[in-house]
Amino acid sequence: MYDELLKFAVQLAKAAGGIQLAYFRGDRLSIETKSNVYDVVTRADRESEELIAGMIAERYPDHAILGEEGGCRGNAASDWRWVVDPLDGTTNYSQGLPLFTVSIALQYRGETIVGVVYAPYLNELFTATKGGGAYLQYASREPERIRVGEKQTLATSVIASGFPYDKDVNPDNNSDNVARIIPYVRDVRRLGSAAYDISCVAAGLLDGYWELALHEWDVCAAELILAEAGGVVCDLRRDRGISIVAGNGAIVKEILKYVR
Ligand code: IPD
Ligand code: CA
Ligand code: CA
Ligand code: CA
Repeated sequence: MYDELLKFAVQLAKAAGGIQLAYFRGDRLSIETKSNVYDVVTRADRESEELIAGMIAERYPDHAILGEEGGCRGNAASDWRWVVDPLDGTTNYSQGLPLFTVSIALQYRGETIVGVVYAPYLNELFTATKGGGAYLQYASREPERIRVGEKQTLATSVIASGFPYDKDVNPDNNSDNVARIIPYVRDVRRLGSAAYDISCVAAGLLDGYWELALHEWDVCAAELILAEAGGVVCDLRRDRGISIVAGNGAIVKEILKYVR
């Protein structure tokens, strides 16, 4: 039903990925900081968002766009809104570490109907449409339908998390949660891209995930991918941006015993 829109969203993600690969590990990254010294942005973040926003404006001039770097653009009154993280995992990217993604969601009247998370260096493409299932395409293989994992206990689970960048002003930085849960899980990962973390939960590559203080652009696309893969997202708290727990129903319950 949303095939054309999905195809276009994939086109956007791949175009941005091309920019990111071109600058990756090069000397023209122009790394700058935003809110504080921990919060970095590069030329690739900005150019990727400009390219994506420009392509959307050309094709759908009446749509609204929310992007991490450029904020709100387009027709704010539109029923259609694109939610874009042009480069999720900038810290990895700026270090030359290969795990970073482009995250693109399209919402209609506030409901996400298309979600794309693309990891250019890894050549992994996670996609979903509302009611149409979730898929992972790796390199030149055919897309395969994905499902969330079935584990029921933390002891056999590998879960991921992350740490907010506002740690200079907010001591509530998630380290207490890590300390509480570590004794009970097989292992914890900090991969560095929230969109990738949640997509990996959707594909059963990770068993669970939680994080505090995220933004819409980090989670919109991946949350649809997870939902279409049979996963669950639960709000952890409301005083710290978007703070969520993700996994299958059983693992979400288990994680909630330790994190807050
Ligand atoms: C960040 C990544 C990271 C998460 C941070 C996000 P950015 O996004 O998703 O994994 O821990 O909270 O801000 O800034 O690299 O797009
Ligand atoms: Ca950022
Ligand atoms: Ca992000
Ligand atoms: Ca970003």
